[in-house]
Amino acid sequence: MINWQLPDVKQILDSGSAPAVNEEFIQQRSRLIQETLASFGAPVQVVEINRGPTITQFGVEPLFVETRSGRTKVRVNKISSLVDDLALALAAPRIRIQAPVPGHSYVGIEVPNDEMTLVALRDIVESEPFQRNTHGLKFALGKDVTGHPITASLDAMPHLLIAGTTGSGKSVCVNSILSCFLLNNTPDDVRLILVDPKRVELTGYNGIPHLLAPVVVEIDRVIGALQWMTREMDKRYHMFAQVGARNITDYNARMKLQGSKRLPFLIVVIDELADLMMIAPGETEQTITRLAQLARATGIHMIIATQRPSVDVVTGLIKANFPARIAFAVASNTDSRVILDQPGAERLLGRGDMLFQAPDAPAPARLQGVFVSDHEIQNLVEFWRAQLGGASPYAAAAGPVDIPKSDIPLKQSAMFEEMAPVDSNTDPLLAEAIDLVRREGRASVSMLQRRMRIGYTRDARIVDTMEDKGIVGPPAGTTQMRKI
Ligand SMILES: Nc1ncnc2c1ncn2[C@@H]1O[C@H](COP(=O)(O)OP(=O)(O)O)[C@@H](O)[C@H]1O
Ligand SMILES: [Mg+2]
Repeated sequence: MINWQLPDVKQILDSGSAPAVNEEFIQQRSRLIQETLASFGAPVQVVEINRGPTITQFGVEPLFVETRSGRTKVRVNKISSLVDDLALALAAPRIRIQAPVPGHSYVGIEVPNDEMTLVALRDIVESEPFQRNTHGLKFALGKDVTGHPITASLDAMPHLLIAGTTGSGKSVCVNSILSCFLLNNTPDDVRLILVDPKRVELTGYNGIPHLLAPVVVEIDRVIGALQWMTREMDKRYHMFAQVGARNITDYNARMKLQGSKRLPFLIVVIDELADLMMIAPGETEQTITRLAQLARATGIHMIIATQRPSVDVVTGLIKANFPARIAFAVASNTDSRVILDQPGAERLLGRGDMLFQAPDAPAPARLQGVFVSDHEIQNLVEFWRAQLGGASPYAAAAGPVDIPKSDIPLKQSAMFEEMAPVDSNTDPLLAEAIDLVRREGRASVSMLQRRMRIGYTRDARIVDTMEDKGIVGPPAGTTQMRKI
């Protein structure tokens, strides 16, 4: 048993620099916005200026204009329609107009700053909102348009979907979230499964004691890993039932009273969902959905990132189970709609500029995401590795989790007990299969597959159901033949 120590933030993270605000430039832009809109017959008054790290938000109130029907206020959508004329006048590449800004009586015109200020992770981690946040899985998100630190908690979400084009800031975001977890949680509190088919983004974490298994880079092991999670989830439900606990918090509270070990939160991070959805869409969607739906009570959380926010990757079913979402810059408003159900992300500037949709918020909030450097991550990894003192990182996990590699890509026959949907009992082919194996006097997955001409997945499920019903025995030896 290792008595884990948490790191000291000051030794791990670099401090940030003060934001550079060019006040004269901002005032000049404010005047330019009023002049430009007035010249298009939409006079406004700038009533508020918010200086964010990446953008400045000019809050404008519509003024009155004389029309044939008398004095009326400038229509809000008239202002929205002038977005391109404004961009031209301000020589700004991308302007976003929010009409109206939730909670305010003004229209927000968001203009990129001439110079973006880096939001250092340490600035948020040491900020008051972060210190006050008592959630175990809290993390630093970034700064909003007024420059306030914004934090969030994965346990409250309970899953997070991140989308954006290449270079928009997904990996930096995932790394900053992981860094927060590794700053605040020992391996007794949090365990991780990291999936990185690209092999570049997350492999740096190999060797830290929080990992349940080495970073999963082979695509055909990913479903195995997810299915291991669903089994773990079922196991936890049983453990909770035995002591009458409702969820992980309840269970851990009881274990504490008894002086027993608590259960760690389990977090699955997938950097690039599209790679999985290309190869096994059905399997991936099904496993992710099942995990997402039942995981909250058992303390299992998912963070999924993708650069392809299209409906075949971020399906309706996946979306429905991921109410917390981050959109970084995307190519089109169609992509934005897939992630956020509204346009806007196509006007983001990249490099950590994001729209964050909290599960309970009425509208997404524009934030500049925190930045964490490779050097800082390296510090964290070395800190945790050092505490192992040469012991195997996975030994701490009460025996390494062996993520099996299947011969059939992405399909795990051994795990179908947990995977089978509840209705496999009612598969119309079940009766036929039972008949067949009774006639034959023996059964195996491959035999049924051949004789009944059905797919492997369905077939394996039927065999498992028959085993559950006591019709066939467990597979014997290497032949996979089963007794009746
Ligand atoms: N929050 C941020 N603040 C500042 N720069 C950032 C931020 N996020 C990303 N960047 C810049 O953008 C680059 C690409 O980010 P990355 O996270 O690797 O993109 P993605 O994973 O979406 O392809 C980074 O190397 C960094 O230079
Ligand atoms: Mg990336």
